[in-house]
Formats: sequence, structure tokens, C-alpha cells
Amino acid sequence: MSTVHSGDTQPHRAQWKTRSGFLFAAIGSAVGLGNIWRFPYVAYENGGGAFLIPYFVALIAAGIPLMILEHGLGHKMRGSAPMAFAKISPNWEWVGWWTVIFVMFGISLYYAVVISWCVDYLFFAANLSWGADPNTFFFKDFLGTTSGPGEVGDLRLPILFSLLGVWLINWVVVFFGVQKGIEKASKIFIPVLVLLTVTLTVWTLFLPGAMDGIKIYLTPDFSKLGELSVWGAAFAQIFFTLSIGFGIMIAYASYLPRKCDINANATITCLANSMYSLVAGVAVFGTLGFMAQQSGKPFSEVVTGGPGLAFVAYPQAISTFPSFAKLFGVCFFLALIVAGVSSLVSILEAFTAAVVDKFHYPRRSVVTVLSMLGFLGGMIFTSGGGLFWLDIVDHCLSEYGLFFACILQCLVVGWIYKAKKLREHVNGLSKWQLGNWWEFSIKFLIPGVLLFLVISGLAKDLKEPYEGYSWLAMVLIGRDWLLLTLIAALFVAARPWRKKLNES
Ligand code: PHE
Repeated sequence: MSTVHSGDTQPHRAQWKTRSGFLFAAIGSAVGLGNIWRFPYVAYENGGGAFLIPYFVALIAAGIPLMILEHGLGHKMRGSAPMAFAKISPNWEWVGWWTVIFVMFGISLYYAVVISWCVDYLFFAANLSWGADPNTFFFKDFLGTTSGPGEVGDLRLPILFSLLGVWLINWVVVFFGVQKGIEKASKIFIPVLVLLTVTLTVWTLFLPGAMDGIKIYLTPDFSKLGELSVWGAAFAQIFFTLSIGFGIMIAYASYLPRKCDINANATITCLANSMYSLVAGVAVFGTLGFMAQQSGKPFSEVVTGGPGLAFVAYPQAISTFPSFAKLFGVCFFLALIVAGVSSLVSILEAFTAAVVDKFHYPRRSVVTVLSMLGFLGGMIFTSGGGLFWLDIVDHCLSEYGLFFACILQCLVVGWIYKAKKLREHVNGLSKWQLGNWWEFSIKFLIPGVLLFLVISGLAKDLKEPYEGYSWLAMVLIGRDWLLLTLIAALFVAARPWRKKLNES
């Protein structure tokens, strides 16, 4: 793709060198662990092939519109999330801070730890070290899981060392800036990820029993479409998987040149991400189908998502591979690492951009301090109680924090800045024109659906605590994590800007 030239009036703001570089970075942020271990399982649980209907409805009605909003806002305001919101109105600057704070000092802390597990498993795969009982190996030997979140236990050294390595890579990539760091790295990450995923998928198709698994994945159960929770699951999956609502795409789009096709860029990012999910689903269900056949167990007993899929079911399947088991294992964990790191990089960049925009501290010092804090903050998740902490913080941040952030984003842009103004801005730059429906989606549909999801989630959680954790743990770890990040956001938003907003 061609190099894009700018008519930028702000010589100091970094800029993507090429359009493809920007797209690779945006897709790298969206495609992550969620596409590999979350999507296939959510699809299976919610009607298999039929789930694709609510999924694509959510993508078109909410995912693409919100992606366009973030791309358009970052481009228009030429700033990170806090700057963009402060330019709309100083009263709303805190919304921008809250999103980048809870993603940097919440999601990135444990996301990096999960990538560290993958790093360790990359080495384990080379020897099939998990042995005959991957379940005990993962939970007991590797994680040293304690009895609950209240018992923190020891720090697990192999995880801690890998975590250091993960933050080092993250630091190096972001340290070198937008063009020389993130853009260059993304141009390596994405092709490698595609190559690994295609290899794994094609390989899977040749395994005995794989087709049975894929059939189960894609066989539609249309009766599920009448269940509200299925629609809720589709919308929730779309928001998390696209990395929208975290201020990430706002920061990335702030480095775009003046002339760029916002609507096309945002749509390409969304479609590439969903295509990746669909393909990953084929690979995952193919492998599970193979495993069901090998173990002689019914499919419903082998199917799982989340850590159970990557660190228990996959190792189990890999051990029974007819040939090249170790190579398959190495490719699988490498794919997870690459997908994860390209998402982690985007989180660090979103926060760095925010701090540099407001306080004008030197970028490289900011990246260095943040990487150190990221590593230190992540240590709690490397402990024996880390899995429980991870589960609770993830639940509260990705199901409440993220939804609140998206609601606020839509309301502030839709009603205070005015959706119409942003629509005119992006349409002025794009070939494909957005109709009125986009404003409707931003002002009514997305906030409405998310409010419904928050309320129904809260009702469920109040009836019985999530996953049976104690109330104390949910409140002290989950709710307070959200509250503390909110207080921090209000505090930082109240500090003065180093330069007047329209000068910076
Ligand atoms: N989109 C990523 C995934 O699917 C998750 C993510 C969330 C990444 C927030 C960055 C920031 O795994």
C-alpha cells in the first residue's frame, strides 16, 4: 500500500508511515487472546452456527459504528482519549482518563501474565512437559493455585521471569515510537500470526475426528436466537474483541495523516478481526473434535474455553498427536504470544499518549516508567492466588468497566459533541458515506444495549456472587479496582494541562 503524506499542521505529533502500518497495528490490537479462546467457546455455547447471526448484527449495529467513532474522534481531535474528551468539554476529560487507566492498570496487568503463561508453555511444548495429566500440571504444578483469592501464596518464579520478558518486549516496541516501534513490529507480528494460524488450521483439518468438531461448531441451533442472553453474549464479545471503549483506537487514530479514509479503515479493522475469529474457531473445534475421538469421550465433555482450553485441553490433544506434536504445540503457543503482545503494545501506547499529551513528559521516560509499573503491578497475578484475582478483576473490568466506558463515550460524543458533527467529519474524508443510522446507533442503540447488559449482569451477580467467590473478595478486589481507577481518573483530570489544549 502506498505511503501516505500528511498535511499535518502539528509537526511534533508522530504519524504512521503507511496506511497498511496503521491497519496492521489496529488489527494487532483487536486480534488477541479473546479471538482464540473466547470467541469459539462463546459461539458454541450460544447456538453454534446460529450465533453468527447475533454476532454479525452486533458487529454491524454496534461494533463498526463504535470503531468509526473512535477512529473519527482520535483523528479529529488529534489526541489520545483524555485530550479528545477534554477538547469536547473539560468536564468530560475524566472519561478519557478512566478508560486508559483501567486498561493500563487493570487489563494489561493480567493480560501480560497470561501471555507469560504462554511463554512458559512454549518451552513446555518443546518437551511435552505437561505429561499425562495436563490439568494437575497446569493448576497445581504450574500455577500453584491456592484455596481462594484470600490466600495469595508464593510468587511463581517461572511466570515471574516470563512476565519480565513480556514487559521487556512491550517496552522495546513502544519505546521506539509509532513509526519505528509499533508500526515496524506490527508489520512483523501480523504476517507471522496469519502464517501460524493458517498452518495450525490446515493441519487441524487433517486430524481424524476434526470434521466432527467443526460440524458441531457450525451446526446452527436456531432456537437459541429467542434467548436474550445469546444476544447479550454477542454484543459483549464484539466490544471486547474489537478493543473499543478503551481509548486505544482513539490514540492510534490520532497519528493518522489529515487525509485518510476513516470509514474504510475502521470497517477493515472490524472485518479482519471477525474473520480471524471465525478461522480460529475452525482450528479450535477441529482440535477438540480430534481430542474427543482420541479419548472416546462425548464432545460436550472435552469442550471448554478460556485458560482451560489453551492450557489443559490443547496440551492434552497435542500429546496424542500422530506426528510432530511438539512442533504443533510450539506454533500454537507462539500464535497466542504474538496475538497477545500486539494487543498489549496498544494498551501501553494508549496510556503513554495520554500522559505525553497532557504533561509533555519525555515519551521514552514515560514508556520506561509505565513498563516497570506494569511489571510490578502484574506480580500479584503471578502468585498462587493469581488465577482468582485475574478472574475477578477481568470480570469487573471487562463486563462493567468496559461497558460503562462505552456508554459514556457514546453519550458524550453523541449528545454533547454531537454525533452529526463527527459524522460530517468522517464522511468528508471517506468514500463510503455513513447514513443517519450511525447517529441513531451512537445516541440510542449502543448505550441502550450496554445499559441492558450492565443491569442484567448486575442482577445476576447480586443474586449469587460471580463464580461463587465470596462477597468480600468481589467487593475488595473487583469493585474497588474499578473505584480506585475512577478516583485516579478524576484526580488526573483535575490537574492542569501543561499547554493550552488547542496549542498542544
Ligand atoms: N481485543 C483483545 C482480544 O480480543 C483484548 C484487548 C482488550 C486488547 C483491551 C487490548 C485492550 O483479546
